Amino acid sequence: MIRRVFPDSAETTIEQAYDAPLGAPSGRPWVGLCMVSSIDGSTVVDGRSTELSSANDLALLLGLRRLADVIIVGAGTVRGEGYGPPDIAGQRVGVVTASGRVDTSLPLFTSGAGFLITTDNAKVADNVDSIRAGTARVDLQAAVSRLHEVHPTPRFVQVEGGALLNGAALDADLFDEINLTTSPLCVGGAGPRLATGATDLALRFELAQMVIDDQSFVFSRWKRSH
Ligand SMILES: NC(=O)c1ccc[n+]([C@@H]2O[C@H](COP(=O)([O-])OP(=O)(O)OC[C@H]3O[C@@H](n4cnc5c(N)ncnc54)[C@H](OP(=O)(O)O)[C@@H]3O)[C@@H](O)[C@H]2O)c1
Repeated sequence: MIRRVFPDSAETTIEQAYDAPLGAPSGRPWVGLCMVSSIDGSTVVDGRSTELSSANDLALLLGLRRLADVIIVGAGTVRGEGYGPPDIAGQRVGVVTASGRVDTSLPLFTSGAGFLITTDNAKVADNVDSIRAGTARVDLQAAVSRLHEVHPTPRFVQVEGGALLNGAALDADLFDEINLTTSPLCVGGAGPRLATGATDLALRFELAQMVIDDQSFVFSRWKRSH
């Protein structure tokens, strides 16, 4: 059973609870972050997120993915977890990298879906599309505002981690919404938290929705408040 407990109390489904982004683009695409974390704040078990997830969490991830025109993911996650081509025709997947250490012979790229988001002078493979923005690090706001170069109508962008990319995105105040699954596990270890490497910040978000399931997973949706 899945129950919405905020903003009201009612039975629901993952599909209903995640049927649309929390807002619309204005000037640039609407950007959401989708992540799962343990109770004690880790985003990995043995270097991967799989152990933290569940069937409902996967349904959530895939549901939001279906709404996305562009997915953005860090090169570390692609190197560690692998990333296949998307199921949605026309959807693009941008891999953020400064080093260029991304295997563009993977199906993600040979399918035509994958592209690189990198810095002005980075040495990256030239057999795939790329958006260059920023000098030492990628300027994520600038890159997102130029996604029309790789997609005709980029309205909703889903960022899927990992922690270093999320930290850079928080520094850039990139997220309009955060979709966070809290897994009912304490996992210890030294795994990365939701965001690593950001400067000290106080970006305020308001709770838009909270859903719970009968396996003690908590699914929260947070909207940036300005
Ligand atoms: N729990 C979850 O929901 C979840 C989701 C995703 C990932 N994960 C886990 O997180 C781990 C990976 O996280 P991570 O923090 O190590 O890696 P990451 O954030 O996926 O990728 C980090 C890399 O992305 C590039 N990058 C990020 N921000 C950049 C910027 N502003 N400018 C230029 N390049 C930038 C750099 O690539 P280069 O090194 O190529 O320059 C950097 O080393 C994996 O273990 C994965 O399983 C968990």
